[in-house]
Amino acid sequence: MRIGSLDLKSNLFLSPLAGYTNLPFRLALREVGGLDLATTDLVNARSLLEKNPKAFKLIETCSADRPLAVQLFGSVPEEMRDAAQYLESVGVSSVDINMGCPVRKVCRVGGGSAMMTELEKTARLVKGMVDAVKMPVTAKMRLGWDDQNITAPDLSLALEDVGVAAIFVHGRTREQGFGGTVNLAGIRAVVEAVRRIPIIGNGDVTTPDAARRMINETGCAGVSIGRGAFYNPWIFLHTRQYLQTGELPPEPGFDERIRVMCRHLDLMVEVFGEEHGCRMFRKVAPWYAKRFGPANLFNKRVVTISSKAEFHKILNDYIEWRRQFLDESGELRPQYQPAPLVASFMPEPAAARREQIPVPKGPVEVW
Ligand SMILES: Cc1cc2nc3c(=O)[nH]c(=O)nc-3n(C[C@H](O)[C@H](O)[C@H](O)COP(=O)(O)O)c2cc1C
Repeated sequence: MRIGSLDLKSNLFLSPLAGYTNLPFRLALREVGGLDLATTDLVNARSLLEKNPKAFKLIETCSADRPLAVQLFGSVPEEMRDAAQYLESVGVSSVDINMGCPVRKVCRVGGGSAMMTELEKTARLVKGMVDAVKMPVTAKMRLGWDDQNITAPDLSLALEDVGVAAIFVHGRTREQGFGGTVNLAGIRAVVEAVRRIPIIGNGDVTTPDAARRMINETGCAGVSIGRGAFYNPWIFLHTRQYLQTGELPPEPGFDERIRVMCRHLDLMVEVFGEEHGCRMFRKVAPWYAKRFGPANLFNKRVVTISSKAEFHKILNDYIEWRRQFLDESGELRPQYQPAPLVASFMPEPAAARREQIPVPKGPVEVW
């Protein structure tokens, strides 16, 4: 898989999730495996140029966190260009542009909306960035505003013409938010609109099978996974294996899930300090717990942690409490096992399909 000058070991990508795709999460996922190019949360280009400490924290990285894309947000061409140059100078592998929502009057601020409605202006801004750096410049967009305004194919072609190296497409319109089904035909229309560059499909991929279906039905060159990585940090590794061999690796057991969760917390503490790291982990741990089986005791208590010692006490109590749901061999009894994950666009009956993956609290209305 190539994106411009980048030779990648995987065609699976981590989708930007503001508030989550920080250095500890990326490192935890990389250690599990199957992921190569990961991205930061969205970063405001101007804040970066102004050396705002929060923006700098968002781009914090280390040698194990490579290759790394930084996603930029902004509408001022000079700022976007200078921010891209700065990122290149500090060794970032590629820069991704957030193109947000296509209808200007509905979106509150910034570049996203204007970018999708004003093709020529956007192409000029993007060209300014492409010409200023050697690293690849990519873009991330939705299909369009609504079913009557599917702008992603035209925009993608215009961006290819000015030198964008790849495009990430969430297969929903702005109007859909995070509801309804991911539109594979919509992603395919983008694949068919461009000439050479890879299109990376995105949306609701929670299983290896869903990734394969997205690739097969759309012709996309790879798949970008966001919320699926919360539930299942093994998704990149397992999907890689599944795409290469056709064999589905077994789901990780409880002990392995606990091991990775604890490692993730350790990394949070290393990067953000004990108290802040633990506080941030309050919203992360319940995602791991979604695959533990009964977990109400854990979920109620983990949102109070401020130290690792508190976390481990809660975890040990939980492991004891959970024993009541296990059989003699230490496995969850069938009635307590979590329902299998099924993506919105899979052919399974509606009852089995997950029409909506939970969306964490936050400013998601602009994604
Ligand atoms: C909490 C949250 C934060 C997000 N932050 C960003 C962001 O910073 N930049 C962006 O382009 N998309 C963002 N998105 C959209 C995701 O990258 C992705 O396109 C969307 O969640 C669909 O993929 P998924 O079903 O694999 O999660 C965010 C989504 C969520 C739920």
